[in-house]
Amino acid sequence: MSICEYKPGLENIPATQSSISFVDGQQGILEYRGINIEELGQYSSFLETSYLLIWGGLPTEEELAEFEHEIRYHRRLKYRIRDMMKCFPESGHPMDALQACAAALGLFYSRRALDNPAYIRAAVVRLLAKIPTMVAAFQLMRKGNDPVQPRDDLDYSANFLYMLNEREPDPLAARIFDICLILHAEHTINASTFSAMVTASTLTDPYAVVASAVGTLAGPLHGGANEEVIEMLEEIGSVDNVHAYLDSCLERKAKIMGFGHRVYKVKDPRATILQDLAEQLFEKFGRDEYYDIAVALEQAVAEKLGHKGIYPNVDFYSGLVYRKMGIPTDLFTPVFAIARVAGWLAHWKEQLAENRIFRPTQIYTGARNAPYIPSEKRQSTQDKDLLAGLIAE
Ligand code: ACO
Repeated sequence: MSICEYKPGLENIPATQSSISFVDGQQGILEYRGINIEELGQYSSFLETSYLLIWGGLPTEEELAEFEHEIRYHRRLKYRIRDMMKCFPESGHPMDALQACAAALGLFYSRRALDNPAYIRAAVVRLLAKIPTMVAAFQLMRKGNDPVQPRDDLDYSANFLYMLNEREPDPLAARIFDICLILHAEHTINASTFSAMVTASTLTDPYAVVASAVGTLAGPLHGGANEEVIEMLEEIGSVDNVHAYLDSCLERKAKIMGFGHRVYKVKDPRATILQDLAEQLFEKFGRDEYYDIAVALEQAVAEKLGHKGIYPNVDFYSGLVYRKMGIPTDLFTPVFAIARVAGWLAHWKEQLAENRIFRPTQIYTGARNAPYIPSEKRQSTQDKDLLAGLIAE
């Protein structure tokens, strides 16, 4: 069999066939199961959208009520998971805490029956139900507080904000948060979804699938960019500094966080919706000091990099929305994970339906038939200063 051309980052190489979501990067279109993201944001809820993604169609009223009921019932964490979390360092990143907790679920629900629809449903429910509780619990525990128990009278998003901030959220904030989860729920074969699919293809358990995807989402080139956007806006400091900041990034060939996308060559449709949601929040709760800087940066980047198709992606405005809700910056990526669990699970289920283990090939560039050199004759390949630094650490 001939090996096709190597493409770094597998650009434009199909890794699967999928009917879950569709992106048109030239027109700025995103659809889940054929339904436009704008329409879902307007009319759907995160749990309804999750159902749509995972089971392929919108639920009836009865099916949705049953699904919501199951999720409410499974929101609590086992006390042993909370005990495990008490041992995590407060200084640790919440994405690392989340990855450890997601993987730990596999210890408690270890019966693996991937061909049983009831097992699939139970795993979906547990993961969707418990991940927000884990994120909120870590936030309170690292401040030295006890985690807040979920409240059955609150819906998915209101309950998460309640567990996080220890008070019932404003209804507008809760609805906007729910829309944010819809917008982040799925996005074809991005890095974390690909990671989930590769893990799924080995027929391991769904908790390992989600844990590997959480680890992949954490990186600054993927979900972690939403945190870096806020740090960047902070560093810019004022609208007057925008052009100088951008010029210095371009000179250093540094990436501008929250801009650019492998697929979109126009403004990401989710960024447009998120910007509108941010404005709705500012109208009710006051403007964010960084918003004007963000708008000026978007304009400046369009002028300088628009010809390369570099425009805001989903991570550019999401942080400004979350800040207004009192969510700390290092929880932005875990919030992204809460939403993306739906997409990962949809791809897990799709992968299982027609599974073949992922095992790509490589183009070998190393030595062949190299001699084994006795230790006394070897030349070091290590940087001595670096080694000294590692030992001193
Ligand atoms: N700022 C400045 N230049 C950029 C940016 C950016 N944010 N993104 C891409 N470019 C430029 C590159 O320098 C390169 O230019 P060149 O052809 O002159 O060398 C060209 O556009 C292509 O860039 P690549 O890095 O090859 O594009 P790729 O598709 O591999 O990467 C990515 C996409 C990782 C999203 C990239 O745009 C980036 O690093 N953006 C900043 C980080 C970010 O916001 N990540 C979140 C993405 S959304 C998500 O994952 C949820």
